[in-house]
Amino acid sequence: MSQNIILEVKNLRKSFGDFLAIDDISFSLGEGKILGFLGPNGAGKSTTIYCLLGLIDPDFGQISIFGKDIKKARSEILKQVNYASAEFHLPWNLKLWECLFVFGKLYEVKNINKRIDELLEIFEISHLKNKHIRELSFGQRARGNLVKALLNKPKILLLDEPMASMDPDVVDKGINLIKQIQKEEKISILYTSHNMWEIEQVANHVVFIKHGKIIAQGSPLELTKQVLQLESDEPNLREVFIQLSRVKRDEFK
Ligand SMILES: Nc1ncnc2c1ncn2[C@@H]1O[C@H](COP(=O)(O)OP(=O)(O)OP(=O)(O)O)[C@@H](O)[C@H]1O
Ligand SMILES: [Mg+2]
Repeated sequence: MSQNIILEVKNLRKSFGDFLAIDDISFSLGEGKILGFLGPNGAGKSTTIYCLLGLIDPDFGQISIFGKDIKKARSEILKQVNYASAEFHLPWNLKLWECLFVFGKLYEVKNINKRIDELLEIFEISHLKNKHIRELSFGQRARGNLVKALLNKPKILLLDEPMASMDPDVVDKGINLIKQIQKEEKISILYTSHNMWEIEQVANHVVFIKHGKIIAQGSPLELTKQVLQLESDEPNLREVFIQLSRVKRDEFK
């Protein structure tokens, strides 16, 4: 089935000193699709995302988003992209509402107040809007991050462990919301998580990286069949993850 490629990475490479963090990876994200981007701690997932945001300069390779080179059209591209991560910190001394208002201004969101209220309601944190970020729990801040990430109705969402600190009930709701928003607004999502249930719920395709290299990819079910070498009707990404994580460096090219 043909699909519009909205984000394409070709032969990306990035070193920190003499450490090769990203070792020649290529992948693409189709319009309206959700790509699960998996790998063990230190595999290079966040580094790749920072390259996609233009925060880190790769040593080699091309990144094109909406058919444009991130190096040449970064600010234009980023108007339609957003990012959420449990690692991203909203300014500590601002109230949640103030933070979201500032980001809304930066993204030139129309009817900012209405959009903020709508999203706070969806993520069930309206009652926290006048609290300072420093007063929020980890999971509440993570929900605030997701609200921030959706403010500009992005066409591409880069989610780097967005629900890492949320309780299971909120993760369940968050996943349903993401599915709903993705369907309604046709957002394309690159989704990183260590919670395989989340990925099984949302991802059309999974790319698995280790030591900065792609070592397996396919739909969650294809990967399950391929890696676990069994006929199955259900994906089992947890087992797939464990097996792939234990592959030794010299066992893959
Ligand atoms: N600024 C940096 N300077 C030096 N090394 C770095 C830097 N950023 C990342 N690295 C190294 O690059 C590798 C990839 O890191 P990265 O944060 O991309 O991993 P990750 O796949 O996101 O892992 P996690 O699942 O733990 O979030 C790690 O070995 C890390 O130590
Ligand atoms: Mg990371």
